[in-house]
Amino acid sequence: MCGIVAYIGSREAYPIILKGLKRLEYRGYDSSGVALLNSGLKVYKKKGKVADLEETLIGKDMHANVGIGHTRWATHGEPSDCNAHPHMSQNGKLAMIHNGIIENYAQLKTELIKKGYEFKSDTDTEVLLNFIENILQNNNCPLEEAVRIALKRIVGAYVIVLIDQDNPDTLIAARKGSPLVIGIGKGEHFLASDASPIIEYTKEVVYVNDYEVAIIKSDELILKNLGNERQTPYITKLDMELAAIEKGGYEHFMLKEIFEQPTTIFDCLRGRLDAHAGTITMKGIDEYAEELKNANRIVIVACGTSWHAGLVAEYIFEELCRVNVEVEYASEFRYRNPVINKGDVIIAISQSGETADTLVAIENAKEKGAIILGVVNVVGSSIARTSHGGAYTHAGPEIGVASTKAFTAQLAILVMIALKVGFEKGTIEEKRYRQLLIDLEAIPQKVEVVLKDHEKIKALAEKYMDAPDFLYLGRGYNFPVALEGALKLKEISYIHAEGYPAAEMKHGPIALVDEKLPVVFIATKDVYHQKVLSNMQEIKARKGKVIAVITEGDTHTPTITNDLMIIPETDEILAPMLSVIHLQLLAYYIGIAKGCDVDKPRNLAKSVTVE
Ligand code: G6P
Repeated sequence: MCGIVAYIGSREAYPIILKGLKRLEYRGYDSSGVALLNSGLKVYKKKGKVADLEETLIGKDMHANVGIGHTRWATHGEPSDCNAHPHMSQNGKLAMIHNGIIENYAQLKTELIKKGYEFKSDTDTEVLLNFIENILQNNNCPLEEAVRIALKRIVGAYVIVLIDQDNPDTLIAARKGSPLVIGIGKGEHFLASDASPIIEYTKEVVYVNDYEVAIIKSDELILKNLGNERQTPYITKLDMELAAIEKGGYEHFMLKEIFEQPTTIFDCLRGRLDAHAGTITMKGIDEYAEELKNANRIVIVACGTSWHAGLVAEYIFEELCRVNVEVEYASEFRYRNPVINKGDVIIAISQSGETADTLVAIENAKEKGAIILGVVNVVGSSIARTSHGGAYTHAGPEIGVASTKAFTAQLAILVMIALKVGFEKGTIEEKRYRQLLIDLEAIPQKVEVVLKDHEKIKALAEKYMDAPDFLYLGRGYNFPVALEGALKLKEISYIHAEGYPAAEMKHGPIALVDEKLPVVFIATKDVYHQKVLSNMQEIKARKGKVIAVITEGDTHTPTITNDLMIIPETDEILAPMLSVIHLQLLAYYIGIAKGCDVDKPRNLAKSVTVE
């Protein structure tokens, strides 16, 4: 949460920072701001989206070759102009942007108030900045030294970038827990929370590690640890094209990303799955094949949509690999002092690779000796780097705040891991294994078939858009899909929605059913189908509106339902990759019909880098 951008070089800094902030807006959009260093230090900031800031700055002299910018997801202090970043230190000489949370800020604030500091905002950031300024003044040391001293006392997570009026040729940055990428240009440097603001200027980047301080001039990058020892910057080549982070003719990123799924799933399978040869090759998994095969237990940790992918994987692993699987909310797992035994394998699932809870959960488990495998989308992200092994989902940048294409790519990876392990363990018959490989290979093309129904789903959305509540029900593999369908609707349209196991519905949610309640059943062909039909009848008997996702060729279910969404036939293990597409489209079109900002839903952020 919160996006940071900075530039130092010979170009105009403001347009680079502004464009970068727009690319990072998915990380938070409560307020934004820039600080530019020309003859003096100027700070401009505004509540609202980056476009609101841009509008207020039209016609102003924004000339500068050094600058920092920030787009905020509020933690300490409501969204407002004065709580927006950058913040200025009390003497007006330093400006700073921050992504993260300073947990001991209240104590530091009290100390600073006693020393005569006054605060203009409610943020933890302004406290850290004045703490640094105070050290600078007392110790008469370089800014990088003051930053190091300050950070040794900080509890929490941060990426910070500072500019100093007295040293206009240097930016100082530091990281712990939140992401920071530095792009290396010719006589210029670009800093950002992820590579998207950097990609059009350079493909050479350095991912800053925790507890590193970067001293950045136009033509020099020095990395040091908090002990003032030089660290070697490790330069990585970005494997990402500019087109991947633009809308490409679609009205919204979310729609583009939903429609990209035939390609993203294909990309995820490409080079790994060979149905003809009957093989699955995943280097980062192959290296841990023995540990997976012999695992006493697999623990999946994740948040949000990634957690739902984990739930589907639980069913798949248990069926194909006959191994005990637990799926944990990372935020709960990390604080629970969980029992981790030798032979446990942890799988962390994360689109961004930066979710703070997931990251700390795996760091803790790693310390206790567990093997950590990451299923991550963003290459080079913190979770990917903390994991021992794993597999990238290769879904490309996901910009829409609500996750879509990352989910189906995660499922593709998890199915491949389960198939691989199950086959090697002998817990899946060769015939089923080979058939599943063939079925999995056919999924991208079947997703294309599902997407062809988008106009029908749009009509459905318009029919049900005024319902105040929705219920989503499913059994088995379809239960997590019900959860994901409900989450998508909540996130995008602000309609209250709940996902439930279809049978469990009788233990509470059935009390909500009346003629106004749409109930979405994920009722594709599987072993539970008859039971789901009984649940449908129970809803119908209470006059609820039944909308169902069914498998083509099912002639019985339509006799019960009010409305239908149809997927092509596939193995029940793979059906979630198809049925979820309809639910993504339904949420999208309801959100649009209600006039919601589907790419940037209120209060949400894509990358939750605070706990
Ligand atoms: C946020 C996003 C969700 C995402 C979740 C987990 O809540 O809005 O779309 O599923 O974080 O993020 P991760 O990057 O770890 O998958």
